[in-house]
Amino acid sequence: MASPRANLALLSLLSLSLFLTISAEVFFEERFEDGWENRWVKSDWKKDENMAGEWNFTSGKWNGDANDKGIQTSEDYRFYAISAAFPEFSNKGKTLVFQFNVKHEQKLDCGGGYMKLLSDDVDQKKFGGDTPYSIMFGPDICGYSTKKVHAILTKGDKNHLIKKDVPCETDQLTHVYTFILRPDATYSILIDNTEKQTGSLYSDWDILPPKKIKDPEAKKPEDWDDKEYIDDPEDKKPEGYDDIPQEIVDSEAKKPEDWDESEDGEWTAPTVPNPEYKGPWTAKQIKNPNYKGKWKAPMIDNPDFKDDPEIYVYPKLKYVGIELWQVKSGTMFDNVLVCDDPDYAKKLAEETWGKQKEGEKAAFDEAEKKKEEEEKDEAGESDEEKEDDEADAEDSDKDEKADAEADADDSDDEQHDEL
Ligand SMILES: *[C@@H]1O[C@H](CO)[C@@H](O)[C@H](O)[C@H]1NC(C)=O
Repeated sequence: MASPRANLALLSLLSLSLFLTISAEVFFEERFEDGWENRWVKSDWKKDENMAGEWNFTSGKWNGDANDKGIQTSEDYRFYAISAAFPEFSNKGKTLVFQFNVKHEQKLDCGGGYMKLLSDDVDQKKFGGDTPYSIMFGPDICGYSTKKVHAILTKGDKNHLIKKDVPCETDQLTHVYTFILRPDATYSILIDNTEKQTGSLYSDWDILPPKKIKDPEAKKPEDWDDKEYIDDPEDKKPEGYDDIPQEIVDSEAKKPEDWDESEDGEWTAPTVPNPEYKGPWTAKQIKNPNYKGKWKAPMIDNPDFKDDPEIYVYPKLKYVGIELWQVKSGTMFDNVLVCDDPDYAKKLAEETWGKQKEGEKAAFDEAEKKKEEEEKDEAGESDEEKEDDEADAEDSDKDEKADAEADADDSDDEQHDEL
C-alpha cells in the first residue's frame, strides 16, 4: 500500500500536469461548428470578375465523423479568399504553433492547400493574393515537380522561402500540417504529428545574410599541392618506344597479276595498323604523397551579417486566412489552430484527425470501390450503346443518302426559283 504521503505527492504531480496542459495560450481555434460564418469574413476579391468561388460547409464525401464539418472549395477555376481575426498578439518570447487539417478530396493535380497568418490591420473584405502576409504555410501541388510544404516567412516586405525540400502528402485523405516557430529561432514542420523537418531560421531561410562566409581575400598558397594522382617517377619509358610506327606495310599484300607499271605507276604495298603500336607513352599514375586535398578558402565572420535576435518575431499577428486559386475544387480545411504550445496542438490533432482517420480511410475505400463498380457498369452499358450506335450509324448512312438526294432536289428547286 502506498503511504498517504506518497498519494499526496502523486496527487500534486497530477494536478501539476493538469495545470501544465491547461496553461497553453490559444490565440485562435476554429473547429468549424455552427456559427463559424460569424467569425470568418468572405472576401469580395475577384467577385466583380465572377471568379470568386463558393465555400461549402460540409464533412465531405468521405469522413470519419459526418457531424464534423469543415469548409471546402466547391467550384472549379475559382479564386478563394476568406479570413478570421483574433486578438492581436506578438510571439516574442513565445513558441508559435500554426496548425490545420487539409484534405484534397479531388485528385489534385495543381493547387494549394496552404494558409496564411496576417498582421496589422487588413481589410478582410479585400483580402486577396496581393495582401501582405507574415507567414504562409501548407501543402502545394502542381504536376509532378511540385509536391511540397511551403513555409514562407515575410520580413520587411520580402517573402523568404524555406530552402529545404519538405514533401507534402498527395492522397485524398485528411492530413494535419503543423508549423512550430520557437524563440531560439528554431522551427519544426510536422505532418500528422510526425516531424518532417527541423532546423534554424538562420540556415534554412535567407532572412539574414549568412553568419560566416568564405574569406574573399584568401588565396590558394603557391605550394598547395591539390593533385591527387601523379606520374610514377619509377615508371620509365621503354627504350625505342617512340620508334614503333603506327602503321606498317601489309606483308600479305601482293602486286596484282595485271599491274602494269607503265600505265599504273610503281606498285607499293598498302599499310595496316601496327599491332605493336600502343599510342603515346604515359607514365603509370600513383597517389600523390604530397596531396593536401582540395583547397578551400577559410570561413570568416561575414561583415554584412548583423544579428537580429528577433528574427522569429511577428509583433502584430492578427488574422488567419486562406487565399487560393483552384483549378479543380474539393480542398477542405478544418481545425485551424494558433497557439503557443506544441503539446496542445498535438492533442487537438489526436482528438480530431487521430480519432477519425481510420473511419475516413474506410469510407474513402468504400467510395472508391463504389466508383469502380459504377465505372464498370458504365463500361458494360457503353458496350450495349456501341451496338446501338452501330445500328444508328447504318441508319444515319441511309438517312444521309436520303438527305443528300433531297438536297439535290432542293438545289434543283432553287435553280428553278432563280429562273
Ligand atoms: C457540398 O458537399 C457535399 C458533400 O460532398 C455535397 O454533397 C454537396 O453537393 C456540396 N455542395 C456544393 C454546393 O458543392
